[in-house]
Amino acid sequence: MATKTLPPSPPGHFLLGHLRELRHNVLDFYTRVSREHGDVALLRFGLKPVYLVNHPDMIEEILTSRNFIKHYALRMNRRLLGNGLLSSEGDFWLRQRRLIQPAFNRDHLNRYAETMIGYSQRWANIWQDGETRNIHDDMRTLTMEIAAKTLFGADVEGQGPVVAQALIDVMDSFSSRLFSVLRLPESFPTPKNLRAKRAVQRLDELLYSIIHSRRSDGQQDDLLSILLHAKDDDNTGMTDKQLRDEAMTLFLAGHETTALALTYTLWLLGRHPDIQDRLRAEVRSVVGSEPLQVGHYSRLKFTEWTVLEGMRLYPPAYAIGRQALEACDIGGYRLPAGTTILSVQWVVHRDPRWWDDPLRFHPARWDNNLQKRLPKCAYFPFGGGPRICIGNTFAMMEGTLVLAALLRDWHVESITSELSFRPRMTLAPAIPVELRLRRV
Ligand code: HEM
Repeated sequence: MATKTLPPSPPGHFLLGHLRELRHNVLDFYTRVSREHGDVALLRFGLKPVYLVNHPDMIEEILTSRNFIKHYALRMNRRLLGNGLLSSEGDFWLRQRRLIQPAFNRDHLNRYAETMIGYSQRWANIWQDGETRNIHDDMRTLTMEIAAKTLFGADVEGQGPVVAQALIDVMDSFSSRLFSVLRLPESFPTPKNLRAKRAVQRLDELLYSIIHSRRSDGQQDDLLSILLHAKDDDNTGMTDKQLRDEAMTLFLAGHETTALALTYTLWLLGRHPDIQDRLRAEVRSVVGSEPLQVGHYSRLKFTEWTVLEGMRLYPPAYAIGRQALEACDIGGYRLPAGTTILSVQWVVHRDPRWWDDPLRFHPARWDNNLQKRLPKCAYFPFGGGPRICIGNTFAMMEGTLVLAALLRDWHVESITSELSFRPRMTLAPAIPVELRLRRV
């Protein structure tokens, strides 16, 4: 039974709360607060109280409990995501999750894997010996190509730059609203909000035209077609608006996060040539002189550990938020109904209580089923509980196959000596992440 009401809190401004610290360096701030104030601490985003909860057992409790719904930040993105899987709640969410889940079954994943391999190999052929590349740009384009092809078939080819700019405009408006004192709605006509509105209109036009052509051409083999034919128990499918929301959500959630996982993992490999050599040796011994195929995936163990380890140090979704429906007890504190809670992968994945030598990039730590030996939410790049990422297997497969396809014949060296971040919804880099390429 909880006895205490207020957890410890670092000193803050009477009006801004901790916004200055959050804007200055949100990752360092969360880390410092957790290390200095313990597993439950109280922050203020302007006047809004936010509880920072960073103990794996408490995080598991929150992510699996029915008392918590997604937090307000996701609802701030209604215009873009609509009522898609990431933001919907309750029975509607459950119905949609059940309709969409089969699109991620083993057979479908194996087909998507061919697309992952095909596009990665195209990039391995585009790269030039000796050149230096902005690897985030490359990985964003590659994962966007993969997401577009698996979701929509060939229909968005050539639309990449339009889609990329639209997404940047939407994210800019979101991040400036998230860390502002006066939380204006997305309908308020600031220049950023207006740009975001036009961007969503452009994306909508594209999506609805794809949905309409899919309804008439009867094509079966992309993810959108699977969603289009999905029916629940009473034989009803999705309306065009639901399809639009789900397709937009899957497209958005499905490529930027994976691009970041690959960017940071490649950067780490570019700093650790010995680990990169070990990964390449594994790929060459598993694949031999054959073309890379989906059948190789299950044997690329070290490559997969490398992706896990990259996401441990640089989790693309660096924090996860929830809101309590009713008053509850967490970590000995009584939290009122409506409380916003934030759990931060960046902090927990680097906590020395769960990780030996936490700042060391060490993919081999994942040997001997490390994941089974850890507290469940000591590692949660994909979230947890019933709302766990629906694309987690897709993403692990993509990360592993892309690394295998690229590094089989290429050595990467990190030119960027240190990473810095501009965390928005995801852990975006603040400066270009550059790698020099050498054919091997
Ligand atoms: C490395 C890549 C990825 C990371 C780190 C990641 C991370 C996450 C996280 C942390 C959540 C849970 C959010 C929460 O509970 O508040 C989530 C949910 C979700 N992700 Fe991912 N994701 C990745 C790739 C993907 C891919 C490839 C797809 C789709 C193709 C996808 C689609 C979704 C969807 C639809 C949800 C909402 C699920 C629900 O609430 O039922 N994600 N993701």
